Amino acid sequence: MSTPTRLDRLDRVAVVVGGASGLGAGIAVRLRADGYDVVVADRTPGAGVVEVDVTDEVGVEALFAGVVEQHGRLDAVVNAAGISTFGAVVDHDAAEFRAVVDVCLTGGFLVLKHAGRQLVRLGTPGSLVTLASLNARQPGPGLAAYCAAKAGLVMLAQVTALELGRHGIRVNTVSPGLVVTPLTAPAMDVPGVREDYVDNTPLGRPGTVEEVAAAVAFLCGAESAWMTGENLDLNGGAHLQRYPDLPAHIERMLNP
Ligand SMILES: NC(=O)c1ccc[n+]([C@@H]2O[C@H](COP(=O)([O-])OP(=O)(O)OC[C@H]3O[C@@H](n4cnc5c(N)ncnc54)[C@H](O)[C@@H]3O)[C@@H](O)[C@H]2O)c1
Repeated sequence: MSTPTRLDRLDRVAVVVGGASGLGAGIAVRLRADGYDVVVADRTPGAGVVEVDVTDEVGVEALFAGVVEQHGRLDAVVNAAGISTFGAVVDHDAAEFRAVVDVCLTGGFLVLKHAGRQLVRLGTPGSLVTLASLNARQPGPGLAAYCAAKAGLVMLAQVTALELGRHGIRVNTVSPGLVVTPLTAPAMDVPGVREDYVDNTPLGRPGTVEEVAAAVAFLCGAESAWMTGENLDLNGGAHLQRYPDLPAHIERMLNP
């Protein structure tokens, strides 16, 4: 019998970027339960969190190099980092627009670039999963920066899937509809928004963190071994109807 190598003894290693809160935190819990050794990285500091800002290329490169150096392998990477802003296109502050694109789209690119590089270097047929959104396909008034960045992210992942397929590396996106998290909770305080969302969701409710985590876990693991370049919609059917008109609800709240 051959002597086990260092790699044989180690668990599969996953990195969850944006894993300190909301969906990312739930995904980290799920992947741990699935047996991964999970590294959580985030801009927000916290216990057990490796600090990284996805807009900082030096930091993102160091994150993945550090994980490989420390753990000796890398199997799955989930990018859940994201921010949003609100404003009509004709009124939108350009710096705010850029900030959303920088985190959601350019940050997504930097994660795919440096995680992908490490997987190619290791010769690992790993899985890269990026959180996109229902808003990648369904426009929401007032959400131009977010919608545009998320649509770009889906295409970015597809191009990356094309390029990395020959290495056996899979690249997919998960596009949730509404899940109440710190990102979306403020919109729930606007009277009528939640009801409008639910009215336009055939399954009649928002999703849960666990449901999104299950879809991500599927894309990370062997059961999706023949899937790449896919965008998995997960929204109770909301993509079949229309997105809530947030500006109209805000206007009614301000001028009842
Ligand atoms: N909650 C939803 O309804 C919903 C729906 C569709 C898509 N999404 C997407 O899912 C992902 C997670 O969202 P969430 O609802 O859990 O939000 P959240 O605000 O709870 O979590 C987002 C995390 O990203 C981190 N982050 C933000 N900017 C960062 C940066 N520059 N570098 C590193 N980390 C950064 C935050 O610190 C936070 O921990 C986002 O990409 C979001 O766009 C969420």
